[in-house]
Amino acid sequence: MAEEIIRTKTGIQGLDKALNGGFPNGNMVLVSGGAGTGKSTFCLQFIINGASVFGEKGLYLSTEQNREELYKQASVFNWKLQELEQRGLIKIIYYDPTTGEGFPQTFNDAVEQFKPKRIVVDSLTTLIDSLLISGISDDKGFSLVQIAETVNPIPRTDQIVTKHVLYSLFKVLKAFKITTLLTTEMPEDGKTLSADGVSEFVADGVLVLHYVGVGSVDFRSMAIRKMRYTDHAKSTLAYAIEPSGIAIKESEI
Ligand SMILES: Nc1ncnc2c1ncn2[C@@H]1O[C@H](COP(=O)(O)OP(=O)(O)OP(=O)(O)O)[C@@H](O)[C@H]1O
Ligand SMILES: [Mg+2]
Repeated sequence: MAEEIIRTKTGIQGLDKALNGGFPNGNMVLVSGGAGTGKSTFCLQFIINGASVFGEKGLYLSTEQNREELYKQASVFNWKLQELEQRGLIKIIYYDPTTGEGFPQTFNDAVEQFKPKRIVVDSLTTLIDSLLISGISDDKGFSLVQIAETVNPIPRTDQIVTKHVLYSLFKVLKAFKITTLLTTEMPEDGKTLSADGVSEFVADGVLVLHYVGVGSVDFRSMAIRKMRYTDHAKSTLAYAIEPSGIAIKESEI
């Protein structure tokens, strides 16, 4: 008999249904989309629902919005981010991409000590960019960029660093069976599903968010482009950003 899969529910009805119950526990899922498609809102909702509905601890690593900005975004949807943080259910780490400090050590320490069931990295794109600029070292003190450049001069350096960062994240997250969302900017040309062009292959799943604005009407859709270890809906799901957050609309396209 097949082993039953443990699920991490998003708490967003319609999406959990489309995922046959939720993300398979421990999956690393890329949330891919253009500017303003709702990536951060979706990820924050995933962490908020995890804590408030399912009692699961969530770690939010942000390179985009600092703590105050995250509070502001949460309050728009009446989500009690600060309260859940004070109750020890949510931990926020702001990683300043301009200084290149605190990654991966602060993150690894938080994962080991806080023991989250859910993690968000918003955004993977900025994290990788800042690692490329700051010359991140591996755990033995070797510069990842230098290692990558010796292996493969310049053009593919970012892809090698991306893969290295993802695999080192993988190692930690898989060991602790943590379900993780990582946001990435999807290029307009549609040639790749992520800014770096490799993370969609490494990740267990890819969720693609689209936004089309025509006149005064806006239209948002979500597609489960890839999800290892589970069957899932193949059709596109229409969604809206409502006063209570992201909601899937019944009508599928
Ligand atoms: N209260 C709200 N009601 C409806 N829509 C909202 C509300 N607040 C924000 N939005 C919509 O959500 C969009 C921003 O969502 P979000 O910041 O999650 O997107 P993102 O994909 O993370 O963007 P970025 O690429 O800038 O990081 C806004 O552009 C707006 O269209
Ligand atoms: Mg964002």
